[in-house]
Amino acid sequence: MAQLWGGRFTKATDDLVYHFNASISFDQRFLDQDIEGSIAHVVMLEKQHILTESEKDAIVKGLTGIRDDVHNGSLQITDEYEDVHSFVEANLIERIGDAGKKLHTGRSRNDQVALDMKLYTRDRVELTEEKLRDILTTLLSMMEEHLETYMPGFTHLQKAQPITLAHHLGAYFEMFKRDLLRMRDIYKRMNYCPLGAGALAGTTYPLDRVYTASLLGFEGPTLNSMDSVSDRDYLIEFLNALSLIMMHLSRFSEEIIIWNSNEYRFVEIDDAFSTGSSIMPQKKNPDIAELVRGKTGRVYGALMALLTTMKGIPLAYNKDMQEDKEMAFDAMDTVADCLTLFTGMLRTMRFRKDVMEKSAMNGFTNATDAADYLVKKGVPFRDAHGIIGRLVLACIEKNKSIDEMDISELQEISEVFDADVYDAISLKTCVEKRLTIGAPGKKAMQHAIEENRKFLEA
Ligand code: ARG
Repeated sequence: MAQLWGGRFTKATDDLVYHFNASISFDQRFLDQDIEGSIAHVVMLEKQHILTESEKDAIVKGLTGIRDDVHNGSLQITDEYEDVHSFVEANLIERIGDAGKKLHTGRSRNDQVALDMKLYTRDRVELTEEKLRDILTTLLSMMEEHLETYMPGFTHLQKAQPITLAHHLGAYFEMFKRDLLRMRDIYKRMNYCPLGAGALAGTTYPLDRVYTASLLGFEGPTLNSMDSVSDRDYLIEFLNALSLIMMHLSRFSEEIIIWNSNEYRFVEIDDAFSTGSSIMPQKKNPDIAELVRGKTGRVYGALMALLTTMKGIPLAYNKDMQEDKEMAFDAMDTVADCLTLFTGMLRTMRFRKDVMEKSAMNGFTNATDAADYLVKKGVPFRDAHGIIGRLVLACIEKNKSIDEMDISELQEISEVFDADVYDAISLKTCVEKRLTIGAPGKKAMQHAIEENRKFLEA
């Protein structure tokens, strides 16, 4: 057991306590961030004449050596160290001797781990933004391709009004666009450097915190040392944003599962993104979509866990905060994988345009347009609504759609109907005449696509 704090203890840590307390099994993810932060720290210490140039050079060389050796496999991170910080410092001292013992001057593991978590989260925010950009780019080109792919739009999972596939996909574009904007927003707010906060109350060494902040790409240093070591708000914000991404992916998955069902047959998921059954040879299951929907729970779980962990912690650092890592890492990995796989599934999915269009033709999706037709002929909307309601009832009795009723059948319900009704309630009219901003008509959709193209290119 290599610990940084043996001095005031008279006996060794109980073995169970040691392992319960240790974080090396999961915080070894921070190796690169820990070394990057340490290098910035010693470069600053030398600038402030707290370390000599040769001490700084020896430490920087030792640290980069440790990083390279772990990456090339010649140095193993083992659980004989309590955490990644102890691993790095112990190895540094072993490599360069006494100069290594000066690395931790004017620093605590509390500001060190606060920095590591922030650097790591910042990278993952950027990675998530990239993956969101991929799904947005994919969606936008699918939207361009399906401006005239008609399908029913639903409310209550009942056919409501006809739309296009471009319009339906466009709804998800807006959701993932907001997710992407949230990444930028979180990044901006979190980008202040906690290094130099010490254990909780700063330090008596003349540290240049503005300098270390700029070396590490931060906007500036954080302004309260107690908050610096105990703030995990940015991580909670990130987990919240990840939860929203999963909520969007899960809703989309649910729709794809429905569209892929034997009853709907709107889509066919590519063989590469489906799996079979061990007993039923005919099966081709939408497992990726189901797993994405299922994994949403563990990402929400990570958010709830951290909110709960943080709620009772007095200032400043407490060991509870070590619990900020495992579930958060799991959530970050889960969302990255889900975005990658979901985007791949979308790109290779085949849409059965004929089935979708046929489905849009029945189920009275043009009933609103039929009422609007009467309104244009002078019937007040509420009366028109009642007339079309009676018409639908008559259609159901005759097992016909509205446009399959001949003109005399229509006129039995209302004399206002004329031969021009058929054109007014055709599928094409129902969609293409909907031209308000945000509506499914082709011109309106092209406008939305253009705006979103500009967004992606900016
Ligand atoms: N492993 C610890 C964590 O993840 C590092 C900080 C330890 N600081 C302390 N005072 N024990 O939070």
